[in-house]
Amino acid sequence: MFAVRTIVPMTINDLRKKYLDFFSSRNHTVITGKSLIPENDPTVLFTTAGMHPLVPFILGETHPAGNRLTGFQKCIRTQAIDEVGDSSHLTFFEMLGNWSLGDYFKEEAIKMSFEFLTSPQWLGIDVEKLSVTVFAGDDLVLADTTSAEIWESLGIPGERIHFLGRKDNWWGPAGETGPCGPDTEMFIDTGMDPCGTDCKPGCGCGKYMEIWNDVFLEYIKQADGSFVPMERKCVDTGMGIDRTAAILQGKTTVYDTEAFRPLIGIVEELTGKKYGIDEEIDKSIRIICDHVKTAAFILGDEQGAKPSNLGQGYILRRLIRRAIRHARKLGVEEKFLLKPAEMVIEINREIYPELARKKKLILSELELEEGRFLKTLQKGVLEFEKLLPNLLKGAKRIVPGRIAFKLYDTYGFPIEITEELASEHGLSVDRQGFDKAFQKHQELSKKGAEKGFKGGLADNSEMTTRLHTSTHLLHKALHIVLGDHVQQKGSNITTERLRFDFDHPEKMAPEEIAQVENLVNEQIQKDLPVSMEIISLEEAKQKGAFAFFGDRYEEKVKVYSIGEFSKEVCGGPHVKRTGELGEFKIVKEQSSSAGVRRIRAVLKDPEETQ
Ligand code: SER
Repeated sequence: MFAVRTIVPMTINDLRKKYLDFFSSRNHTVITGKSLIPENDPTVLFTTAGMHPLVPFILGETHPAGNRLTGFQKCIRTQAIDEVGDSSHLTFFEMLGNWSLGDYFKEEAIKMSFEFLTSPQWLGIDVEKLSVTVFAGDDLVLADTTSAEIWESLGIPGERIHFLGRKDNWWGPAGETGPCGPDTEMFIDTGMDPCGTDCKPGCGCGKYMEIWNDVFLEYIKQADGSFVPMERKCVDTGMGIDRTAAILQGKTTVYDTEAFRPLIGIVEELTGKKYGIDEEIDKSIRIICDHVKTAAFILGDEQGAKPSNLGQGYILRRLIRRAIRHARKLGVEEKFLLKPAEMVIEINREIYPELARKKKLILSELELEEGRFLKTLQKGVLEFEKLLPNLLKGAKRIVPGRIAFKLYDTYGFPIEITEELASEHGLSVDRQGFDKAFQKHQELSKKGAEKGFKGGLADNSEMTTRLHTSTHLLHKALHIVLGDHVQQKGSNITTERLRFDFDHPEKMAPEEIAQVENLVNEQIQKDLPVSMEIISLEEAKQKGAFAFFGDRYEEKVKVYSIGEFSKEVCGGPHVKRTGELGEFKIVKEQSSSAGVRRIRAVLKDPEETQ
C-alpha cells in the first residue's frame, strides 16, 4: 500500500471537481475537452495531452475564454503499449490541466501546483512524500535553476529536487519546429522499497509515481535546431487523473480505483480467473480492461473511427485484437467483448455522455471486429504453432518477415501481436523483412498506408493556415450548392491538401463540383477580409455562424467571418485576406461512410496561378 496520508478517500470525480474548483478560484476559466481525434493536425493520430487542442493558442491565437484556462481532456498514447498492465500505464487516460497563455509563468505555476497538492483544503498530500525533477541543462539550453529555487522556497529540500536531462525534463516537438521548454515533474513516493542505491524519480521502478507535469514553454525550436526564446511564454500542465486518484486512495495500481475495479470484476467472471493471485494473469486482465476501455472511447468519440488497416482504425483494430488474444490466453473461446464494453460505458457515461449516445455503434462495431478476428485467430495460432519447432531450431531464433506478413495478411494478425506471440517463445520477428513484404503488398494494391503513429505538435505553417481558410469557404459553398443539410463531419489538413467530410446522401455531380469550386474561387478573387470576434455561442448561432460538435464549446467562442460570405465558430488560425489563398481545386469527391461524402482539395500557389 502507498503510505500516503489522505484527508478523505477521494474518488476520481471528486478529484476532477477539486482540480477545476481550485483553478477556477485562481481565475482560470474552465474549458471543455475536445475530441480524441485531433482536428487539422495530421502529425498525430490521437490527442495525446490536454495542451494538444490548445496549440494554436500557445502559438499566439487569442483564446475566447482568456489567458488562464483549466479543464480535462481525454487522451490516448500507444507508444508505451508494452508497459500497459504494469502499475501505472494506460493507453487511454484523462488529463487534468491548467494553462497560462502568456499570463503567469514558473513562479505562480509551481506555487499553485504545490498548494493544490499539499494544502489540507485541497489534496493534503504529505510534503515529505513529494519529490520533483527539473531540467539539468545541456549545450543548448541552461539548467532550470529558477524552478529548483521556487521548489526549495516552498519547503522541498535539495535532496528531493533532482536535475535530469532532456529525455526526462524537456517537453516539445521531437525533431520538428515549435514551442518547447523545460518541465518540472512531481512524484509521489509510494512507500515501496527502492530498486537500488540510485533509485530516484524518473527511474521507472514504481517507487516514485509521476502524477503532474508543469511545462514551461519558453522557446521555439527552429528548423536549424536552435532554440529562440518565445515572446509570450506559456505554461502547460498535465495531471494524470487515474494515477493521482490511486495515490489518494492508497491503492497500489491505477487499476485499483473505481474506474477499473468493476471492469476487472466482469473480466474475472468471464474468464473464471481470480485477480490478484498470479502476476501474469493479472497482467492479461489489466490489458483486456485497458484495451476495451480505449476501444470503446475511440468508437464512441464524437469524431470516432472504426476498425481498419489505416491510421486510427488500425490502432483500434490492434487494441481489440490484442484484448481478444489475452482473453484467449485466459481460456475464453467465445465472444466476450460486449459485457466489459457495456461496463466501460456505464462507468464513464456521466462525464463522457458521447459514450452513451453512441452505445449501439460501440457495441455493434466491437462485435463485428470480434467476429472477424475470431474466425481466423485459431487458424493463425495453429499455423504459428506448426512452424514453431522449426523456428526454435534456427540459430537466430527469428520469425522471418514473410511468415509475419502471412499471419497479417491471411489471419489478420497485427504485426505487434505476432511479435508478442514470438516473444512468448523466446523468438523475435524480422521486422524489416515484414515491412518489406508489407510495402510490396501495398504497392501492388496501390494503397498507401498512413504513417504518423508518433509525432510532434500541430503544424501551423502558412500552407495549413491557407487550407484552413479554404475549408470555411468550401463549407459555405457546399451549403449554397447542395443545401442546408450539409453538416461538417470531419476536417483534416496536411501541408499538401485539405480533406472535408460532410453529410450528403449521394455522389456529387460534376456540375455541382464545378459550381462549388467556382464559388470558392470567386471569393478568393474578391480578396475578402477575414475577421474574428469573440462572442457567446448563443450570439454566434443567432448570427448564423456554423458551429459543430454540439456540446464541446465553451461559453464564449471565436467566430471567423470571411467578408459576408461565411461565418464559422473556429479556433483559427486563418489568413488575413482571401487573396492570399491562390487557386482552389477539388481533386477528389468520394464516399467516406454511409451518407457521408469526402472531398479532397488543394491550393495552387498564388504565384503559380498569376
Ligand atoms: N503536455 C504535458 C504532458 O503531456 C503537460 O500536460 O505531460
